[in-house]
Amino acid sequence: MALLKIVHFPEPVLLTVGKPVAEDEFNENLQKLVEDMFETMYTAEGCGLAAPQVGVSKRLFVMDVPVEKGEPNRIALINPEIQMQEGEQIGDEGCLSFPGIYTTVRREVRTVVRYQDVFGKEQELDCTDLMARCVLHETDHCDGIVFLDRMTVLKRELAKRKIRKLQKTGKWD
Ligand code: NI
Repeated sequence: MALLKIVHFPEPVLLTVGKPVAEDEFNENLQKLVEDMFETMYTAEGCGLAAPQVGVSKRLFVMDVPVEKGEPNRIALINPEIQMQEGEQIGDEGCLSFPGIYTTVRREVRTVVRYQDVFGKEQELDCTDLMARCVLHETDHCDGIVFLDRMTVLKRELAKRKIRKLQKTGKWD
């Protein structure tokens, strides 16, 4: 396994719509990418990581949001498609491509997502709360949308100001 480099905003790949993973791409290379993404995510102590965040402009992400406390819950979602989203939750959100930025973001509280697993098999996940937040955040990454775009205007300006400050001090590359 290998650790991948996580790119930071405003790297163009983060603002680009990812390409769907084609049928003939469900192979060892994809499995290796997924394993490396899990390793990279755990090392960075995140609960989700999308391919564009490691410079790969493709529609897939990995996540681990435990259902039972302490129990790992690894899921790789390839070609995720949000089927339904409903309700509302307001909570703090972070992103490995925005180190040090934690901001309140409004999201739907429940979502149903269809995706393919690493073997290409169709799957569906119906989830709520933190897992729904993670699925929506990571699917956004596949669409070239970052959580900055989901903030209120005020929070976005505050976040941008903080990013500029971090860039100046060289703590953000
Ligand atoms: Ni993110």
